[in-house]
Amino acid sequence: MSDIARQLDFVSDHMPIIRGIGRRFAAGRPFDGLTVAVRIHVEPKTAVLVRILRDGGARVIALGNKGTTNDELAELLQREDIEVLGDRADDDSTMQAHLATLAAATPDVVLDNGAELIEMLVAGGEHPRGATEETTSGAFTLRGPLKGKVPFPVIVINDSPLKAIVENKHGVGQSVIETIRLATNALLQRRRMVVLGYGWCGRGIALYGKAAGADVAVVEPDAVKALEAAIDGFAVSELEDELERGDVFVTATGAVGVITVDHMAGMKDNALLANAGHFDTEIDVVGLRDAAESVTARGADIRQYVLPNGRSIDLIAEGKMVNLAVGGSRGNSIEIMDLGFSLQALSLERLARDPASLSLGDQPVPADIDDAVARAMVAEMMK
Ligand SMILES: NC(=O)c1ccc[n+]([C@@H]2O[C@H](COP(=O)([O-])OP(=O)(O)OC[C@H]3O[C@@H](n4cnc5c(N)ncnc54)[C@H](O)[C@@H]3O)[C@@H](O)[C@H]2O)c1
Repeated sequence: MSDIARQLDFVSDHMPIIRGIGRRFAAGRPFDGLTVAVRIHVEPKTAVLVRILRDGGARVIALGNKGTTNDELAELLQREDIEVLGDRADDDSTMQAHLATLAAATPDVVLDNGAELIEMLVAGGEHPRGATEETTSGAFTLRGPLKGKVPFPVIVINDSPLKAIVENKHGVGQSVIETIRLATNALLQRRRMVVLGYGWCGRGIALYGKAAGADVAVVEPDAVKALEAAIDGFAVSELEDELERGDVFVTATGAVGVITVDHMAGMKDNALLANAGHFDTEIDVVGLRDAAESVTARGADIRQYVLPNGRSIDLIAEGKMVNLAVGGSRGNSIEIMDLGFSLQALSLERLARDPASLSLGDQPVPADIDDAVARAMVAEMMK
């Protein structure tokens, strides 16, 4: 057995909720004859999800997100009759080509992560029975440019209170801090960590950053969330006021260009920058590359950029989603993804079996699914 296969076995053993759903899928085959397109990071926990969809009768075609595909795992899945497109080296143009291939396969059910595939399917071709959307950034697209235009149901997994509390807050918080430590080996005690965004992910990053000993400041434009950060015990500040103070800056906003080149030029020498948001545009990396006088790799996942004013910053993982893009990082804890992917599996089953019970366009996870998964997780935690 290969190392990756043994790793997958270990991960699967720690995902009891989804394994239970998988046993039911294997018996009932809810996806018989259906093609399921899965657009999500190809790593061991997602492999457990795609395997149970295959065991439930689906032809599964999977595509990772830019820079996060585990190539060894992709090969293993391909040997198990799961089609995987792309690899870790994919850039924007190859990723667009893979998305077009996925759309051309006319999937019956879609699991999307960022709404790019949903956008393509709305623009042309046959519509699927329905889709799920995993993330906040995809939900922004569904409620913004795609509002009123999606002629099939889309269950927004990210809107489940379970996912927000368990995954975005605790899962992302823990794994982002662990990954920054992994990439830098830096001590966080007494370091000033500036967290941009106090949504679900930012709350967790601030919480686990504080637990690691950092002195955390939060930058958040929403007054209610800023108040929440303050009463949770964090300094609330403006980015401009933190530039000279911050040692580590972490973005978790879902917005574009939150840290600009001008901001970076005002930071302390060797300030560390990382992004936890879905897209690699929260920190203006393109502008930084254009402006930099020199760029030096400082370890596998850190690049030092020297700016025209002589100041330098250290960017982790080129501004990609840090908790997945850093080499050796493993994303959210296994048990947390057991919950998130159980919501996915049951929502995909609902779309396959009973799409008429759902309305068109974006909607929350059906309440009975939230309830069933929450009960299962509490039962597992109390064992
Ligand atoms: N790294 C991961 O594993 C992971 C997991 C889930 C979600 N995400 C991504 O993380 C991002 C945030 O997700 P979330 O669930 O926390 O979203 P959220 O909507 O709960 O929070 C985003 C927060 O950012 C704030 N914000 C917006 N613009 C800002 C700015 N310029 N400066 C400071 N704050 C700003 C908003 O007011 C909001 O409070 C999204 O891109 C999401 O897709 C990443």
